[in-house]
Amino acid sequence: MDISRAPFTVPDLALAKHEGRKLVMLTAYDAGFARSFDQAGVDLLLVGDSLGMVVQGGGSTLGVSVVDIAYHTRCVAAATRRALVIADLPFQADATPERALDASTALLQAGAGMVKLEGAGHKLATIRYLVEREIPVCGHLGLTPQSVLRLGGFRVQGREQAAAAQMQDDAGAVAEAGASLLVLECVPTPLAATITHALPIPTIGIGAGPHCDGQVLVMHDMMGMDSGHRRPRFVEDFLVKGRSIVGAARAYAEAVRSGAFPSAAHGYDA
Ligand code: KIV
Repeated sequence: MDISRAPFTVPDLALAKHEGRKLVMLTAYDAGFARSFDQAGVDLLLVGDSLGMVVQGGGSTLGVSVVDIAYHTRCVAAATRRALVIADLPFQADATPERALDASTALLQAGAGMVKLEGAGHKLATIRYLVEREIPVCGHLGLTPQSVLRLGGFRVQGREQAAAAQMQDDAGAVAEAGASLLVLECVPTPLAATITHALPIPTIGIGAGPHCDGQVLVMHDMMGMDSGHRRPRFVEDFLVKGRSIVGAARAYAEAVRSGAFPSAAHGYDA
Protein backbone atom coordinates (compact mmCIF):
# COMPACT_ATOMS: atom_id res chain seq x y z
CA MET A 1 0.00 0.00 0.00
CA ASP A 2 1.23 3.51 -0.85
CA ILE A 3 1.55 5.54 2.36
CA SER A 4 1.47 9.34 2.21
CA ARG A 5 4.66 10.93 3.60
CA ALA A 6 2.67 13.87 5.01
CA PRO A 7 2.81 13.93 8.81
CA PHE A 8 0.09 11.84 10.44
CA THR A 9 -2.05 14.22 12.51
CA VAL A 10 -4.72 13.92 15.18
CA PRO A 11 -7.58 14.63 12.68
CA ASP A 12 -6.24 11.76 10.53
CA LEU A 13 -7.39 9.37 13.28
CA ALA A 14 -11.06 10.22 12.78
CA LEU A 15 -10.58 10.17 9.01
CA ALA A 16 -9.09 6.66 9.15
CA LYS A 17 -12.04 5.40 11.20
CA HIS A 18 -14.49 7.06 8.81
CA GLU A 19 -12.78 5.49 5.78
CA GLY A 20 -12.32 2.08 7.43
CA ARG A 21 -8.51 2.23 7.20
CA LYS A 22 -6.71 0.22 9.90
CA LEU A 23 -4.25 2.15 12.06
CA VAL A 24 -0.76 0.75 12.64
CA MET A 25 0.95 1.44 15.96
CA LEU A 26 4.21 0.21 17.49
CA THR A 27 6.02 1.19 20.64
CA ALA A 28 9.41 2.88 20.21
CA TYR A 29 11.87 4.18 22.76
CA ASP A 30 14.85 5.45 20.79
CA ALA A 31 15.80 7.23 17.58
CA GLY A 32 17.19 4.22 15.69
CA PHE A 33 14.08 2.06 15.92
CA ALA A 34 11.77 5.07 15.55
CA ARG A 35 13.45 5.97 12.23
CA SER A 36 13.03 2.40 10.90
CA PHE A 37 9.38 2.16 11.98
CA ASP A 38 8.63 5.61 10.57
CA GLN A 39 10.25 4.65 7.24
CA ALA A 40 8.17 1.47 7.22
CA GLY A 41 4.96 3.53 7.31
CA VAL A 42 3.86 2.91 10.90
CA ASP A 43 1.20 5.57 11.66
CA LEU A 44 1.57 5.90 15.42
CA LEU A 45 4.67 5.51 17.62
CA LEU A 46 3.91 4.97 21.30
CA VAL A 47 6.55 5.85 23.87
CA GLY A 48 4.92 3.45 26.31
CA ASP A 49 5.63 3.08 29.98
CA SER A 50 6.25 -0.55 28.97
CA LEU A 51 9.79 0.81 28.78
CA GLY A 52 9.92 0.12 32.52
CA MET A 53 9.86 -3.58 31.62
CA VAL A 54 11.42 -3.96 28.15
CA VAL A 55 14.08 -1.21 28.40
CA GLN A 56 14.71 -0.85 32.14
CA GLY A 57 14.12 -4.54 32.95
CA GLY A 58 11.59 -4.03 35.76
CA GLY A 59 8.70 -6.33 36.64
CA SER A 60 6.01 -3.70 36.06
CA THR A 61 5.51 -0.18 34.70
CA LEU A 62 5.18 1.42 38.13
CA GLY A 63 8.79 2.61 38.41
CA VAL A 64 8.66 4.81 35.28
CA SER A 65 8.82 8.59 35.76
CA VAL A 66 7.79 11.57 33.64
CA VAL A 67 11.52 12.32 33.22
CA ASP A 68 12.03 8.81 31.76
CA ILE A 69 9.15 9.17 29.30
CA ALA A 70 10.22 12.70 28.32
CA TYR A 71 13.77 11.48 27.62
CA HIS A 72 12.62 8.62 25.40
CA THR A 73 9.98 10.83 23.71
CA ARG A 74 12.72 13.30 22.77
CA CYS A 75 14.80 10.42 21.28
CA VAL A 76 11.85 9.06 19.29
CA ALA A 77 10.59 12.44 18.08
CA ALA A 78 14.06 13.44 16.86
CA ALA A 79 13.99 10.64 14.25
CA THR A 80 10.31 10.67 13.32
CA ARG A 81 9.11 12.48 10.20
CA ARG A 82 5.63 11.10 9.54
CA ALA A 83 4.23 9.12 12.48
CA LEU A 84 2.27 10.71 15.31
CA VAL A 85 4.26 10.27 18.53
CA ILE A 86 2.14 9.37 21.57
CA ALA A 87 3.69 9.50 25.05
CA ASP A 88 2.40 7.62 28.10
CA LEU A 89 1.56 9.45 31.30
CA PRO A 90 3.37 7.17 33.77
CA PHE A 91 2.08 5.94 37.14
CA GLN A 92 0.45 8.77 39.15
CA ALA A 93 1.44 11.48 36.67
CA ASP A 94 -2.31 11.68 35.99
CA ALA A 95 -3.42 11.44 39.65
CA THR A 96 -4.91 14.94 39.42
CA PRO A 97 -5.79 17.07 36.38
CA GLU A 98 -3.15 19.63 37.38
CA ARG A 99 -0.38 17.04 37.65
CA ALA A 100 -1.46 15.59 34.32
CA LEU A 101 -1.33 19.00 32.67
CA ASP A 102 2.23 19.61 33.93
CA ALA A 103 3.39 16.16 32.81
CA SER A 104 1.61 16.40 29.45
CA THR A 105 3.12 19.81 28.77
CA ALA A 106 6.59 18.36 29.38
CA LEU A 107 5.85 15.42 27.05
CA LEU A 108 4.47 17.62 24.26
CA GLN A 109 7.50 19.90 24.64
CA ALA A 110 9.68 16.78 24.26
CA GLY A 111 8.03 16.11 20.89
CA ALA A 112 4.87 14.08 21.52
CA GLY A 113 1.69 14.95 19.64
CA MET A 114 -0.64 13.20 22.08
CA VAL A 115 -0.55 11.67 25.57
CA LYS A 116 -2.05 8.36 26.70
CA LEU A 117 -3.55 7.67 30.09
CA GLU A 118 -5.07 4.58 31.64
CA GLY A 119 -8.56 4.13 33.05
CA ALA A 120 -11.88 5.97 33.39
CA GLY A 121 -13.57 6.99 36.70
CA HIS A 122 -11.77 10.04 38.09
CA LYS A 123 -9.55 10.08 34.97
CA LEU A 124 -12.51 11.33 32.91
CA ALA A 125 -12.20 14.78 34.49
CA THR A 126 -8.48 14.70 33.67
CA ILE A 127 -9.13 13.80 30.03
CA ARG A 128 -11.61 16.68 29.76
CA TYR A 129 -9.17 19.06 31.51
CA LEU A 130 -6.33 18.16 29.13
CA VAL A 131 -8.41 18.28 25.95
CA GLU A 132 -9.82 21.70 26.92
CA ARG A 133 -6.18 22.85 27.20
CA GLU A 134 -5.18 21.64 23.72
CA ILE A 135 -3.59 18.34 24.78
CA PRO A 136 -4.79 15.49 22.53
CA VAL A 137 -5.52 12.36 24.59
CA CYS A 138 -5.55 8.62 23.96
CA GLY A 139 -7.44 6.51 26.53
CA HIS A 140 -6.51 2.96 27.60
CA LEU A 141 -8.98 0.39 29.00
CA GLY A 142 -9.03 -3.36 29.68
CA LEU A 143 -5.77 -4.57 31.16
CA THR A 144 -4.31 -1.32 32.46
CA PRO A 145 -0.78 -2.27 33.62
CA GLN A 146 -0.62 0.60 36.14
CA SER A 147 -3.44 -1.24 38.02
CA VAL A 148 -1.38 -4.43 38.32
CA LEU A 149 -1.38 -4.42 42.14
CA ARG A 150 -5.19 -4.16 42.34
CA LEU A 151 -5.69 -6.64 39.47
CA GLY A 152 -3.25 -9.13 41.00
CA GLY A 153 -1.41 -9.71 37.70
CA PHE A 154 -1.54 -9.16 33.97
CA ARG A 155 -4.70 -10.93 32.79
CA VAL A 156 -7.64 -10.57 30.40
CA GLN A 157 -10.27 -8.08 31.61
CA GLY A 158 -14.03 -7.84 30.94
CA ARG A 159 -14.89 -11.55 30.89
CA GLU A 160 -17.69 -11.28 33.47
CA GLN A 161 -20.94 -9.65 32.33
CA ALA A 162 -20.79 -6.79 34.85
CA ALA A 163 -17.17 -6.01 33.99
CA ALA A 164 -17.97 -6.07 30.27
CA ALA A 165 -20.90 -3.68 30.76
CA GLN A 166 -18.70 -1.37 32.86
CA MET A 167 -16.02 -1.34 30.16
CA GLN A 168 -18.57 -0.42 27.50
CA ASP A 169 -19.80 2.48 29.67
CA ASP A 170 -16.22 3.55 30.39
CA ALA A 171 -15.29 3.49 26.68
CA GLY A 172 -18.24 5.74 25.83
CA ALA A 173 -17.33 8.08 28.68
CA VAL A 174 -13.67 8.30 27.59
CA ALA A 175 -14.77 9.29 24.07
CA GLU A 176 -17.35 11.69 25.48
CA ALA A 177 -14.66 13.33 27.64
CA GLY A 178 -12.76 14.19 24.47
CA ALA A 179 -10.21 11.42 23.84
CA SER A 180 -9.31 10.98 20.17
CA LEU A 181 -8.19 7.35 20.39
CA LEU A 182 -8.65 4.37 22.73
CA VAL A 183 -6.30 1.43 23.37
CA LEU A 184 -8.05 -1.81 24.39
CA GLU A 185 -5.61 -4.24 26.01
CA CYS A 186 -6.40 -7.90 26.71
CA VAL A 187 -10.13 -7.67 26.15
CA PRO A 188 -12.28 -10.56 24.84
CA THR A 189 -12.73 -10.31 21.06
CA PRO A 190 -16.55 -9.92 21.08
CA LEU A 191 -16.39 -7.13 23.70
CA ALA A 192 -13.67 -5.25 21.80
CA ALA A 193 -15.78 -5.57 18.62
CA THR A 194 -18.87 -4.18 20.38
CA ILE A 195 -16.93 -1.23 21.82
CA THR A 196 -15.26 -0.52 18.46
CA HIS A 197 -18.61 -0.56 16.66
CA ALA A 198 -20.25 1.75 19.21
CA LEU A 199 -17.48 4.37 19.53
CA PRO A 200 -17.07 7.46 17.35
CA ILE A 201 -13.27 7.34 17.92
CA PRO A 202 -10.87 4.61 16.70
CA THR A 203 -9.86 1.74 18.95
CA ILE A 204 -6.38 0.21 18.93
CA GLY A 205 -6.23 -3.39 20.07
CA ILE A 206 -3.54 -5.44 21.77
CA GLY A 207 -4.85 -8.85 22.72
CA ALA A 208 -8.30 -7.60 21.73
CA GLY A 209 -8.93 -9.60 18.56
CA PRO A 210 -9.21 -8.66 14.89
CA HIS A 211 -12.10 -6.18 14.96
CA CYS A 212 -10.47 -3.07 16.43
CA ASP A 213 -9.74 -0.07 14.20
CA GLY A 214 -5.99 -0.62 14.57
CA GLN A 215 -3.34 -2.62 16.35
CA VAL A 216 -0.35 -1.99 18.63
CA LEU A 217 2.50 -4.27 19.68
CA VAL A 218 5.45 -3.66 21.92
CA MET A 219 8.35 -3.48 19.43
CA HIS A 220 10.33 -6.24 21.16
CA ASP A 221 7.34 -8.60 20.76
CA MET A 222 6.93 -7.64 17.08
CA MET A 223 10.54 -8.76 16.54
CA GLY A 224 10.29 -11.97 18.57
CA MET A 225 12.68 -10.85 21.32
CA ASP A 226 12.61 -12.59 24.66
CA SER A 227 11.16 -9.96 26.97
CA GLY A 228 11.85 -12.05 30.06
CA HIS A 229 8.09 -12.47 30.53
CA ARG A 230 5.62 -15.14 29.38
CA ARG A 231 4.92 -14.72 25.63
CA PRO A 232 1.27 -13.73 25.25
CA ARG A 233 -0.85 -15.31 22.51
CA PHE A 234 -1.40 -11.99 20.68
CA VAL A 235 2.30 -11.67 19.85
CA GLU A 236 3.81 -12.57 16.47
CA ASP A 237 7.43 -12.45 15.30
CA PHE A 238 7.55 -10.39 12.07
CA LEU A 239 11.36 -10.37 11.91
CA VAL A 240 11.38 -13.88 10.41
CA LYS A 241 9.29 -12.74 7.44
CA GLY A 242 10.67 -9.19 7.22
CA ARG A 243 14.38 -10.20 7.52
CA SER A 244 15.46 -6.75 8.74
CA ILE A 245 14.16 -4.24 11.29
CA VAL A 246 12.50 -2.05 8.68
CA GLY A 247 11.32 -5.18 6.83
CA ALA A 248 9.72 -6.53 9.99
CA ALA A 249 7.90 -3.25 10.64
CA ARG A 250 6.77 -3.16 7.01
CA ALA A 251 5.49 -6.76 7.22
CA TYR A 252 3.67 -5.91 10.46
CA ALA A 253 2.13 -2.76 8.94
CA GLU A 254 0.99 -4.66 5.84
CA ALA A 255 -0.50 -7.46 7.94
CA VAL A 256 -2.43 -4.97 10.11
CA ARG A 257 -3.67 -2.94 7.12
CA SER A 258 -4.79 -6.04 5.21
CA GLY A 259 -6.55 -7.51 8.26
CA ALA A 260 -4.26 -10.57 8.28
CA PHE A 261 -2.98 -9.64 11.77
CA PRO A 262 -4.30 -10.07 14.34
CA SER A 263 -6.30 -13.19 13.48
CA ALA A 264 -8.99 -14.82 15.62
CA ALA A 265 -6.26 -17.06 17.09
CA HIS A 266 -4.50 -14.00 18.55
CA GLY A 267 -7.64 -13.03 20.54
CA TYR A 268 -9.41 -14.19 23.72
CA ASP A 269 -12.90 -15.67 24.11
CA ALA A 270 -15.52 -14.07 26.31
O1 KIV B 1 3.12 0.98 27.58
C1 KIV B 1 2.81 0.44 26.52
O2 KIV B 1 3.64 0.03 25.70
C2 KIV B 1 1.38 0.29 26.25
C3 KIV B 1 0.99 -0.60 25.10
C4 KIV B 1 1.22 -2.01 25.40
C5 KIV B 1 -0.41 -0.34 24.66
O3 KIV B 1 0.58 0.84 26.92
